[in-house]
Amino acid sequence: MFENKVVLVSGSGRGIGAAIARHFATLGADVVVNYFRNRQPAEQTASSIRQMGRKALVVKANMGELEDIDRLFETIDREFHGLDIFIHNAASGYNRPVMQQRARGWDWTMNINARSLLFAAQRAVPLMEKRGAGVIVTISSPGAGRVLPDYVVVGASKAAIEALTRYLAVELAPKNIVVNAVSPGMVLTDALQHFEMVRSDAHLAEKATDLTPAGRLVNPQDIANVVAFLCSPAASMIRGQVIIVDGGASLPAPGLEQPRGS
Ligand SMILES: NC(=O)c1ccc[n+]([C@@H]2O[C@H](COP(=O)([O-])OP(=O)(O)OC[C@H]3O[C@@H](n4cnc5c(N)ncnc54)[C@H](OP(=O)(O)O)[C@@H]3O)[C@@H](O)[C@H]2O)c1
Repeated sequence: MFENKVVLVSGSGRGIGAAIARHFATLGADVVVNYFRNRQPAEQTASSIRQMGRKALVVKANMGELEDIDRLFETIDREFHGLDIFIHNAASGYNRPVMQQRARGWDWTMNINARSLLFAAQRAVPLMEKRGAGVIVTISSPGAGRVLPDYVVVGASKAAIEALTRYLAVELAPKNIVVNAVSPGMVLTDALQHFEMVRSDAHLAEKATDLTPAGRLVNPQDIANVVAFLCSPAASMIRGQVIIVDGGASLPAPGLEQPRGS
C-alpha cells in the first residue's frame, strides 16, 4: 500500500514508534528511524526494516532542539528528495505532581512533545510539496483531556498537540496534506516505568485489562494499524480528528465501570 513512500517516525527505536516504523515497512514504505538517546534499538528497528527489503535511514535528533529538527529534515531531503508521511510519536516528560513541577521540566516536555510538532511540520511541508501530497499523524494521549497521576506537563503538551493537529489540518489542507491524531489507551511499553503508580502496583495492567471492554490492553501493533489507516487514501476525508484507540476503556461512566465477567 505504501510502496515508493518515505515515512518519518520520530522516536522509532523503541515502543509504539518502532511498531509503527516496522508496520509501514511491511506495507512497502521506506522509513526514517529517529532516536535521541538509544542508538542500539534504533539500529535494530532499521535492520528489521532492511530485512523486509525496504530502505531504513537512522537519524539521531533531539526533537526538543530546533537545530536538530532542521538537520533531520535536511538529511531526509538529501537522502530521499522528499517525504510522504510524518508520524509525530516521540515524547518525553517530567512526571511529578503539580506542586513539584519546575520551569525546566515544563520547557523540556513542551519542547520535545509539542513545540517539535509545529516546527517539524514547517520543515516537512516543503518535502511533502515535492511529492504533491502528504500525511501527518500525531500521537496524543488520554492525559490531553483527562487527569492522570503526575502527568500535568505531559497532559498539557498532549492537549497542545491535539490543538496543533486541528490547526495543521486546516492550514495544510490546501497543500494536499492530511493531519490527524491517534490517542492510545494504556500500552505496555518502557514509558510506563516512569510512573510511580505503575512501579508500585504489580497488578495495574491486570486491573486495567479488567476495565477494558475489549478484554485486553491495546498493543503497539493496534496503534500502528490505525496510524497506517489514517495515512491511506480511504481516510483522506478524516481531518484534524483525534482517534481514540483504547478498546473502549474510556467509555464507562466514572464509578460505574463494570469489570468484565461481572
Ligand atoms: N505507552 C502508553 O501507554 C501510551 C499511552 C498513550 C500515548 N502514548 C504515546 O505514544 C508515544 C510513544 O510512547 P511509548 O510508550 O512507545 O514510549 P517509549 O517506549 O518511552 O519510547 C519513547 C520513544 O521516544 C523517543 N524519544 C524520547 N525523547 C526524544 C527526543 N527528545 N527526541 C527524539 N526521540 C525521543 C525515544 O527514543 P530513545 O530510545 O532514543 O530515547 C523512544 O523511541 C508517545 O507519544 C506517548 O506519549 C503512550
